[in-house]
Amino acid sequence: MVRWTADELRQAFIDFFVSKGHAHKPGSSLVPKNDPTILLTSAGMVQFKPYFMGTETPDVRRVTTYQRCLRTGDIENVGSTDRHATFFEMLGNFSFGDYFKEEAIRWAWEFVTERMELPRERLWATIYLDDDEAFQIWHEQIGLPRERIVRLGKEDNFWEIGVGPCGPCSEIHYDRGPQFGCGRDDCRPGCDCERFMEIWNLVFIQFYQDEAGQLTPLEQKGIDTGMGLERAASILQGVGSIFEVDLVRPILDEVARLAGTRYGADPEKDVSLRVITDHLRGIVFLVYDGVLPSNEGRGYVLRRLLRRAALHGRLLGLEEPFLGALVGRVVEQMKAGYPELLAQQEHIRQVIDWEERRFGETLDQGVQLLEEALNRVEAQGTKVLDGEQVFRLYDTYGFPVELTKELAAARGVEVDEAGFQQQMELQRSRARAAREATGYMGKPGVERYAELAREVPPTRFTGYERLEEEAQVLALLVDGQPVVEARAGDQVEIVLDRTPFYAESGGQVPDRGTLTGPGGQVEVEDVQRPVAGVVVHRGRVRSGRIRRDEVVLATVDAHHRWDTARNHTATHLLHQALRDALGQHAHQAGSLVHPEYLRFDFTHFQGLDRGQLRELEEEVNHRILQALPVTTTEMAYEEAIAAGAIALFDEKYGERVRVVAIGEYSKELCGGTHVHSSAQVGPFKIIQEGSVAAGVRRITALTGHGTLKLVTELDEGWDRLARLLGTTRDQVPQQVERLAAQVEELQGKLQKMLDQQATSLADQLLERAERVNGAAVVVASLPGLGKEQLRAMGDRVRERLRSAAVLLGTERDGRVQLVAMATPDLVAKGFHAGRVVQAAAKEVGGGGGGRPDMAEAGGRQPERLEQALAVGKETLKAQLGAAAGLAGDGPTPGEP
Ligand code: SER
Repeated sequence: MVRWTADELRQAFIDFFVSKGHAHKPGSSLVPKNDPTILLTSAGMVQFKPYFMGTETPDVRRVTTYQRCLRTGDIENVGSTDRHATFFEMLGNFSFGDYFKEEAIRWAWEFVTERMELPRERLWATIYLDDDEAFQIWHEQIGLPRERIVRLGKEDNFWEIGVGPCGPCSEIHYDRGPQFGCGRDDCRPGCDCERFMEIWNLVFIQFYQDEAGQLTPLEQKGIDTGMGLERAASILQGVGSIFEVDLVRPILDEVARLAGTRYGADPEKDVSLRVITDHLRGIVFLVYDGVLPSNEGRGYVLRRLLRRAALHGRLLGLEEPFLGALVGRVVEQMKAGYPELLAQQEHIRQVIDWEERRFGETLDQGVQLLEEALNRVEAQGTKVLDGEQVFRLYDTYGFPVELTKELAAARGVEVDEAGFQQQMELQRSRARAAREATGYMGKPGVERYAELAREVPPTRFTGYERLEEEAQVLALLVDGQPVVEARAGDQVEIVLDRTPFYAESGGQVPDRGTLTGPGGQVEVEDVQRPVAGVVVHRGRVRSGRIRRDEVVLATVDAHHRWDTARNHTATHLLHQALRDALGQHAHQAGSLVHPEYLRFDFTHFQGLDRGQLRELEEEVNHRILQALPVTTTEMAYEEAIAAGAIALFDEKYGERVRVVAIGEYSKELCGGTHVHSSAQVGPFKIIQEGSVAAGVRRITALTGHGTLKLVTELDEGWDRLARLLGTTRDQVPQQVERLAAQVEELQGKLQKMLDQQATSLADQLLERAERVNGAAVVVASLPGLGKEQLRAMGDRVRERLRSAAVLLGTERDGRVQLVAMATPDLVAKGFHAGRVVQAAAKEVGGGGGGRPDMAEAGGRQPERLEQALAVGKETLKAQLGAAAGLAGDGPTPGEP
């Protein structure tokens, strides 16, 4: 056997198949592109589905890749076995209508026996029950003994991936030796024990499986193979598990080091070490591929892996967030195969750290709560944790149910799942009731509507097809009490036997309209479904009277409804466009569909720039202009998901769901009302983009009339602007530029005038200067000047004298400002301007100070400014006097 590192094995595999005429292509993202039928990339063939199906034509017909994969199906087994993982790499070779079974088997055999040099006698093959062709190749061409070829059933040897290409397969197994086995006589590949390890699966793609599970033969046959990199490496490296191969072991050791333990020291701790190691690899690559933690879809997978890893950290005594600190280690191990990881390392660390910290905040309390609950269960000897507890952990502490199950199972306790579901349902109706209580009608509790629901048959909703309907008044309430009649002015609640009115739901606002009876009319302002089955119309009796049992004409405000429908259809278009543009992590976090606008919240970390917003707008408008038919179909939930419909994780769907499709472009589960063709949406315009919470962005947009109104407003705005500027619209920018230039020019002129003024003021001050010991003394009050101007004036005076001391004061807005300055020669002789302003400031009830050459002060008694200057002048002169003997060196140039 060769002794390859995992990196070497990866490379050798690729090189081998390149030598057999294959093109080496990059593996794809864990987030499948343009394939809403699967959540995550779980095999190398995922990115090639269209080639196998013939819906797209590949540029080459033989390809080899190494592919990062994530599977959560076996998550419960991870940690407790040597070979289970959620994250792993798959080495694959593929044929799209090129070679088939014979080459696939021959090359696989050549690689394992001649390149990897695995001992032939240790190798076994499995084949699908009736696949005699495969048997013949293995037996007659390869020479594998009959007894080492095992026929297995559909579960083992037929490969499928939900909707998509599939076919019988043949696996290569490695016999690790009886010491790993169960010891049974009939122990062979397919046995549950750890003796035989599947290392390579060769799939003979020849069918297409549709949504209903029907198989249709494909026109072109293909080959899809996958060898598990970690498993194969574990054989070459002679280690007992995939966690010990050189690619993975350093991560495991690092986790152990952080936890102050050693792999192999304690079987229970080893489980946690393996779980953390595996999940960490998955987490790093999920974030690398653009997934962010959330409560649905891939985001939920990420969150679940991260929380499980964090919890197992707790089991190891790691109380502080630690996963972020391990990202560097994972990157180090994986960078040979994924050099791009390096650039993203910091982002990945941040996302993981942030999520783990958030989780950690509530975890301590949650774990404690669970422990206590489990103690009680044990004390009672019931062995079942009730649904209410499980729900509380979920609701308050963010414990995924699976996790509670797992932690409970570790202590031999089961979880009452039905009870949990019941609590979830209660929670939903509580939320509805809370919404109810804040409705304008106030109080009526859900219970009363529930009572109503027992008395009247469920309301039939006819509003998908009609906007007007004759219906009978089954219940009439005023102030929450049933009445027989209501009169003009009364606020009423009305239940009909059928209604075209759409009750608020799924973010879409309720319809408005009228109910017209033989004796009066009700204006419907709100429509709600407080309990399942009952639609309540709320509003005011506008005229006459309305009676129970009478037949009314229920008329939906069509304008309101259609504008709302435009925004709803546009919301679906935007959702799809966002996912295409930003990646699958951008999914709906909230939505409001209103007749005047739509508001869409989605998960994404960064803000969108102008270019991105424009592209989104263009894409949505492009789909609108394509006039795509908007169709709705009812189908089974499973079927809808299989067909790639977007479903919201938090939403509870019934067995039958309504799927709204916009051409081939968008498919979403939705109960809302839509236009018939995307063209009816009219012009789409984004008016705002911003953040609502960490990782959630919001887009507000207009359609149809809303956009047209905006255009009109902008139009009128331009006209007004043009009129104000005295020009035509197309000349507005030039005119503004001209005006700006004029303003600049005028400012320049003004400044010049101000400068001249200041110069002449300075001249006056110089004229009035006194002389002491050869130095000029300028003391003056300049009312109205600001602090800056005062300082500028001081500088100006000082600049023009060789030897001078200056004290200026001003009064503005009830405050006094003082500035004192001196030329360097005086400073050199010990003059200090600070002493001058200090003395003066004292007189006006203030203070200040500064450097010897420049000092400033303020005060609050403007009426004493003259006095202050007088005192200042004395101090100034005294300082100059003290410096006697420093006779001036003649008149300073520029002095009068
Ligand atoms: N698609 C097959 C598998 O995942 C072979 O790669 O096993």
